Amino acid sequence: MASYDLVVIGTGPGGYVCAVRAAQLGMKVAVVEKNATLGGTCLNVGCMPSKALLHASEMFEEAGHSFAKMGVSVSAPKLELPAMMNFKQQGIDGNVKGVEFLMKKNKIDVLKGTGKILGAGKVEVSADGKSQTIETKSIVIATGSDIARLKGIEIDEKRIVSSTGALSLDKVPGKLLIVGAGVIGLELGSVWKRLGAEVVVVEFLDRILPGMDGEIAKQFQRILEKQGFAFKLGAKVTAVDTSGKTLKATIEPAAGGAAETLEADVVLVAIGRVPYTDGLGLKEAGVALDPRGRVQIDPHFATSVKGVYAIGDVVAGPMLAHKAEDEGVAVAEIIAGQAGHVNYDVIPGVVYTTPEVSSVGKTEEELKQAGVAYTVGKFPFTANGRSKVNQTTDGFVKILADAKTDRVLGVHIIGREAGEMIHEACVLMEFGGSAEDLARTCHAHPTRSEAVKEAALAVGKRAIHM
Ligand code: FAD
Ligand code: NAI
Repeated sequence: MASYDLVVIGTGPGGYVCAVRAAQLGMKVAVVEKNATLGGTCLNVGCMPSKALLHASEMFEEAGHSFAKMGVSVSAPKLELPAMMNFKQQGIDGNVKGVEFLMKKNKIDVLKGTGKILGAGKVEVSADGKSQTIETKSIVIATGSDIARLKGIEIDEKRIVSSTGALSLDKVPGKLLIVGAGVIGLELGSVWKRLGAEVVVVEFLDRILPGMDGEIAKQFQRILEKQGFAFKLGAKVTAVDTSGKTLKATIEPAAGGAAETLEADVVLVAIGRVPYTDGLGLKEAGVALDPRGRVQIDPHFATSVKGVYAIGDVVAGPMLAHKAEDEGVAVAEIIAGQAGHVNYDVIPGVVYTTPEVSSVGKTEEELKQAGVAYTVGKFPFTANGRSKVNQTTDGFVKILADAKTDRVLGVHIIGREAGEMIHEACVLMEFGGSAEDLARTCHAHPTRSEAVKEAALAVGKRAIHM
């Protein structure tokens, strides 16, 4: 019987990163993966394909709308969707190969099949009707998440799709109805909007992007509406009639009231994701779940069974690839006897639309609710030189600092490249820095990042360019 120091079940960003770190620390490691390819949701049907399509569709739109004003004259761009999908697939393949390379480089055994925990130290791997049992000192569950479904609305991945189907539509829908104004709805809505679809987003709450700073979300909604998005907030889709050529969705006000019908060619259900534990044998092995079906862990990622740990989307916390990766590193270090740690106060979130939205730390609503006295510094991109010359002035930077100590508690950015710009705030916050520290840090000119420095100066009411 094969035996290891560590077996990781799942090769998403949590699992494969955990395996690499454990191998670096001298452990004999195997990963178990039931999919044909490594890389999990993120590489195959998540982060990577969505970003490839966001990039390609943005270029398509820029070529059609922005080139002329810069004096670049091109004929109207023509969409070749199969070629765009091929571009997406090349991106996926390249990244999957990269993970395969990392497994080889770090001498990690890849066991293809479904992993089932038989108890402490024993994992069964089954594929094609055959199974083998492997022994291991430790097990890390990194099985990720699956799409959340709407009761009574069956996803066929053709006309009623989840994010997976929405990443592979074979033609641009005339009308796309999206259920859920969260990250998936707005990112994939942007893709298909840019390629020509009419997009309507139905959201249960009275705002988009719940969890993000309210002021940022409001401005983001206005920008998306200018781009042509239509929002129906405080509403839910209760049924979709698939009998005709066009889908007919029943929309009801969340608070109750008269229903209306909306027609669509494609309905995208993007109402969140749920932890994935099917087939793992957790109940029989005695691994406890929390009331929301996530694997229950202590602050050191340990489950209720000794030697069994869990990380990533399958445990509590934001369902983000980088959170899963950092947990993967931390748990490998803990298993190796080191002090692995994740700082959950400094996990950035990015929505990769145009403009992008990024955020780290507390929102204004959270600070108010916690009764923390804070000061706000804001700086608009309309006053940033680089944004002005590039004519990309949508959005602003918002910094929230402790009123007494000036320590930065939250940074929120809406604007082009916001997803790259957030990281100086992450480093600052990781070191417990103040708005004054940021304000006194020299920033290259002309960059969009100068708006971050100016927002920090604005906390002390002394922004220069405003
Ligand atoms: P996963 O990536 O879900 O990987 C789990 C793996 O475990 C899968 O390969 C699965 O096949 C395997 N598995 C499950 N059960 C078993 C078993 N019993 N035996 C063997 N193998 C098993 N996050 C970001 O941070 N940035 C983004 O831009 C982003 N974009 C996204 C876009 C979309 C459309 C979606 C759906 C998600 C996106 N996410 C993004 C979220 C991100 O994909 C997840 O947070 C991340 O993949 C979680 O990593 P994980 O390792 O926990 O699990
Ligand atoms: P989400 O949780 O971001 O948004 C779901 C939205 O649907 C919420 O606004 C919610 O209020 C709404 N909703 C729920 N039930 C509804 C109903 N019945 N009718 C109408 N609206 C309803 O989930 P989403 O967008 O599906 O994404 C899933 C996960 O994937 C997220 O946790 C996210 O972190 C991750 N992800 C991250 C990305 C990124 O980091 N850029 C990109 C895409 C996904």
